[in-house]
Amino acid sequence: MKILITADLHYDVRRSRAPAEELAGRVGDMRADALVLLGDSAGADLDVLRQCLRMFADFPGRKLLVPGNHCLWCHREETSLQRYEQLIPAAAKEEGFSVLDHEPAILGDTALVGSIGWYDYSLREESLNIPIEFYREKISPGAAKYYGGYDELLAKYADVLGERQYALGARWMDGWRCRLGMTDEEFLRRLLDTLETQLTDCAVRAERVIVFLHHLPYATLVPKNRPDHFAFAAAYMGSERLGELLLRYEKITDVYCAHSHWPGRIRVGNMNVVNIGSTYRWKNLEILEV
Ligand SMILES: [Fe+2]
Ligand SMILES: [Fe+2]
Repeated sequence: MKILITADLHYDVRRSRAPAEELAGRVGDMRADALVLLGDSAGADLDVLRQCLRMFADFPGRKLLVPGNHCLWCHREETSLQRYEQLIPAAAKEEGFSVLDHEPAILGDTALVGSIGWYDYSLREESLNIPIEFYREKISPGAAKYYGGYDELLAKYADVLGERQYALGARWMDGWRCRLGMTDEEFLRRLLDTLETQLTDCAVRAERVIVFLHHLPYATLVPKNRPDHFAFAAAYMGSERLGELLLRYEKITDVYCAHSHWPGRIRVGNMNVVNIGSTYRWKNLEILEV
């Protein structure tokens, strides 16, 4: 069985369109049993998501996707949860795709299980010495000072914040574009519960399980030695809880993730863990033959 996997096509971003189209052209010439798009296919505009999915209209195998955080960015009248649970699955279905988060795919003796995954700041860069409340607000101390409206938070931590933290001007835009209606930790908990149920079920039904996550399950996949404004983003890369859950299932042979735009290939327990590593200007296609 042959599975094609790509991610972070970001078809809503101008500089990403040509490389996404080039990749779709390559996929069009290939024969495989399944294609998985591993998140951040587009942003808030669902029409652009549909256009992105339509590029793969002629692919003859199973077409599957996992949403990314950018896919949960909302228009004013929507919530991220509506997008995750209803709007994205409906748009995907119209274009011949199904969302793995809501139903795993069983192909022969292999189960494909997926989740957007999320973050709980457990992968944050500790050396930055930024209190966790800033991560919850998705703003660095320097940016909090610059944009204003965070006086209480800045005063609370005045004695632990120094030159380095005030020099760090970064925001994580999910804080402005996503509306989950719950904390990041609560959303992750929901996702983990669903993923656990699916993995337990698939471990009985299949001989082999392959997992697809948008966010990262292991700290070793987070890019290291980055300038502080990039290091701030480590908190939003994923969660150790995801990785701990996967390690409980012996039938998982391969895990794919994306999101960091930084390729990686590690071995954890019995699992090959691959970060697709597509960037805005360059798209990677992984081929898994089992
Ligand atoms: Fe992305
Ligand atoms: Fe992402």
